[in-house]
Amino acid sequence: MKTRKKLIEVALPLEAINTASAREKSIRHGHPSTLHLWWARRPLASARAVIFAQMVDDPASCPEEFPDAASQQAERKRLFDIIEQLVLWENTTNAAVLTQARAELWRSWRRTCADNADHPRANELFDPERLPAFHDPFAGGGALPLEAQRLGLESHASDLNPVAVMINKAMIEIPPKFAGQPPVNPEWRTKSANEQALKPWLGAQGLAEDVRYYGQWMRDEAEKRIGHLYPKVTVTAEMARERPDLAPYVGKALTVIAWIWARTVKSPNPAFAHVDVPLASTFMLSTKAGKEAYVEPVIEGDAYRFVVKVGKPADAEKAANGTSAGKRAAFLCLLSGTPLTYDYIRDEGQAGRMGTRLMAIVTEGNRERIYLPPTSEHEAIARQQSPDWKPDLQLPANPRNFNTPKFGLSNYSDLFTDRQLVALTTFSDLVGEAIERVYQDALASGQFAENQASLMTNAPHRTAPHRTAPHDDTALNSPSSTPSTDSSSLTTPLAQGGTGALAYAQAVGVYLGFALSRISSYWSNITSHDNSREKITSVFARQAIPMVWDYMEGNPFSNTSGNFINSINACKKSLDYMLPKFYGHANQLNATNQVISNHKIISTDPPYYDNIGYADLSDFFYVWMRRSLQPIFPNLFATLAVPKAEELVATAYRHGGKEAAEHFFLDGMTQAMAQIAMQSHPAFPVTIYYAFKQSDSGADGTTNTGWDTFLEAVIRAGFAINGTWPINTEMKGRALERSGTNALASSIVLVCRQRDPQAPTATRSDFVRQLRSELPGALRDLQASNIAPVDLAQAAIGPGMGIYTRYAQVIDNQGAAVSVRAALVLINQVLDEVLAEQEGDFDADSRWAITWFEQHGFAAGDFGEADVLARAKNTGVDGLARAGIVDAARGKVRLLEPSELPADWDPRADGRLTAWESVHHLIRALNTGGEQAAATLINDLGSMAEVARELSYRLYTICERKKRAREAIEYNALVQNFGEMRRIAQQQQTTQSQRTEQQASLF
Ligand SMILES: C[S@@+](CC[C@H](N)C(=O)[O-])C[C@H]1O[C@@H](n2cnc3c(N)ncnc32)[C@H](O)[C@@H]1O
Repeated sequence: MKTRKKLIEVALPLEAINTASAREKSIRHGHPSTLHLWWARRPLASARAVIFAQMVDDPASCPEEFPDAASQQAERKRLFDIIEQLVLWENTTNAAVLTQARAELWRSWRRTCADNADHPRANELFDPERLPAFHDPFAGGGALPLEAQRLGLESHASDLNPVAVMINKAMIEIPPKFAGQPPVNPEWRTKSANEQALKPWLGAQGLAEDVRYYGQWMRDEAEKRIGHLYPKVTVTAEMARERPDLAPYVGKALTVIAWIWARTVKSPNPAFAHVDVPLASTFMLSTKAGKEAYVEPVIEGDAYRFVVKVGKPADAEKAANGTSAGKRAAFLCLLSGTPLTYDYIRDEGQAGRMGTRLMAIVTEGNRERIYLPPTSEHEAIARQQSPDWKPDLQLPANPRNFNTPKFGLSNYSDLFTDRQLVALTTFSDLVGEAIERVYQDALASGQFAENQASLMTNAPHRTAPHRTAPHDDTALNSPSSTPSTDSSSLTTPLAQGGTGALAYAQAVGVYLGFALSRISSYWSNITSHDNSREKITSVFARQAIPMVWDYMEGNPFSNTSGNFINSINACKKSLDYMLPKFYGHANQLNATNQVISNHKIISTDPPYYDNIGYADLSDFFYVWMRRSLQPIFPNLFATLAVPKAEELVATAYRHGGKEAAEHFFLDGMTQAMAQIAMQSHPAFPVTIYYAFKQSDSGADGTTNTGWDTFLEAVIRAGFAINGTWPINTEMKGRALERSGTNALASSIVLVCRQRDPQAPTATRSDFVRQLRSELPGALRDLQASNIAPVDLAQAAIGPGMGIYTRYAQVIDNQGAAVSVRAALVLINQVLDEVLAEQEGDFDADSRWAITWFEQHGFAAGDFGEADVLARAKNTGVDGLARAGIVDAARGKVRLLEPSELPADWDPRADGRLTAWESVHHLIRALNTGGEQAAATLINDLGSMAEVARELSYRLYTICERKKRAREAIEYNALVQNFGEMRRIAQQQQTTQSQRTEQQASLF
């Protein structure tokens, strides 16, 4: 088979990808991630760029079209430009940009097919009229399958976790089935023909509109049924007596946004042992400037009540701390000040003696929150509810991420108040009723051929009746091979891939069920109150279920955050952005034995050792999703809880200790990777994400367990690794400022190819020799593509591992295998050597300055030491001072900082031009005059500009090692801006020569 290197095996415009990935984190409206929470999603920008770059040919591997380095570089630049457009969030639905990207994929694909036209399995593997399909076997929140679909591929997603599978169905499987269809709701159908004719329904927008309409219907219907459980509060004159701010509201009934409750336990003080005292982490209700409000407890003998005050409390610290006790204990008894230890609270909680007490009521004023004291009526109504149903599932005994069981909240039903359970079950039942309505409306719309009898009710715990899928499969796109549908006898039209009226109604039901599932993390009694933003915080502010002492119980019908309509709108908006034309399918499969990767393009993002316990966490949503969606996907939701045993997460508590967990993870990951290595389409590399954490980076520049365990699994599975691209989701400056290194919040994309089964064995010295001979070239290529210094060391591991994995194994002189960990140490050592060797290319003054900088930074050092070093480097301190590099006075020598350098420096007139000066003058120009000024200097520096850029890499590496964050940022920024500065420099030259020509023609 003839293979060509793909772009991702040579170069990537990392800067553009990283910037777009970091920016994407702040995009909320319409981002597919707002459809439903999933932990640690990949940014769409990186997913899109990586899949694109793993499919397009690198120009150097197409010498028939790009015969020399210059034409290859130009073509690479053209591909980079496409990626730079492709990664922008604004271009997510830009047809022109996507069409251009898809055309590139086709171009490379046709080239591959032509190369392999004589292949014995050409028909099966190289059909020039059909792009290979895509598969992600660890699909999670679906970023990668969604982006593959966007790029025009038939997309397959699988995951062990039913919640993740459902998210993927909602993102890639359902929208294309109903793409381009208008909504069926009566509001739309009764619009005039003219109005209807004017509105195009692109992609999933019709479906989105129905989700909005029936979501509103659910909300209104629920209000009729349970609205009385959420009474308003009428502001009385008495209430306003001590609260002048309430005067305008006297006599008005205010809608409640939320009730703020504190948990209670009996006082440990014998004198008050009969009293339930509050565990209030704070008494501050709002800390917003000018809007401060707080609770003040009033103690009356052995009783207490809460009043609400506005303004700043007299004792700010006391109000801020509530009854919490800082380090001494957990809390203090409000009445006696006796400490309440965590052990005491735990015993009380486990004995079922933990209660709650209403502390305050948050209401909707006139464009402001009005905080009111608790009333007995409001407290009573909340307590009087008895839900017909509640989830009955124990939380895991996983103390690392699940804190509530310790305190007696050990069943999922304990994480909701009775009133919240009533609301959640009411809305859940309404999903089924809404589906029935959509179905009737869909039939009435005449858009669907199918005419089935009434739909089953969607009551929980009833098995959906068997229904065969309708045969009006009108989807534009069809899969390349028969995907596994939900094939058991328990199936429903949507699960079977139908596109008729019933399937459509169920599709709308899926998103309504999502809106409910996602809101459950706001309608829980472990949501905290964000008093600085006056908002409810979701249960999953962290990837854990924390214990929350005082919580906020929101009103599902108010107009503020945490209400049902907000949740519907989030689902609707993300659907609006889905404009799929291509087939998608999601399956529940274990990655260790799945067989659907066959001949597919694979990009995947497996779990990271023990970072996130997806299965445990997702039970929180599963119990609600199952209740509303099991009738549609009976097999997917067959089990009472999310399957755990096969989850590839190194969970010590599940596997009987750390070591056993590590073995389980390593073996399972190796099997999963072997499945991919065996099955993936041979023309493409496989890309695998790994979340690299600061703790992964050891003192010797290597790693901890997670990273090398992972690499080990990938290599053992039969892969060679030839790329390691760092992808950051955090703005560079910010990450650097915090740590001075690149270790924060980045993930690494491994680029892998199947390892040659005939690969030879190498000795350790062969390996080192090859590192020394190949790394300098690889490093130069990376620097030529203007990789940011901050990313260089990580990206250079790719070529190093490429050498290591070229062999079946590398053995040391005792015949033992050199481990991945040891190989990484060697790669890092050689990398350092190579970078240090590059120093040889610089002038003597700069070499002196580099060594001095390494030792002293910009601080002063002794003249004697400077002088000795200068002799060794073949220069002199006086000369260095004359060259404008150092300040030497009173026996001390120090390097000049960019801000101290003269602004009128002209390199063309400098008799002793050095790389060191050039770097620092460029930084000065960039800081003071921006890219324009720096570009002018680039023109004046001529070829020295490129030498300066190279030196910046070296200086960055020194700063990183020495943890000099401030300087590191400057060197990194200089390289990052170089591309743009060069462009401006070029422009300046063109303008200059045009002017000269004009002047010449004048005379
Ligand atoms: C890092 S997440 C994927 C995140 C995804 N790329 C995104 O952007 O949202 C890893 C996924 O692997 C899944 N997983 C864990 N063990 C698995 C197994 N044995 N088979 C299939 N999937 C598994 C988890 O459920 C989780 O969704």
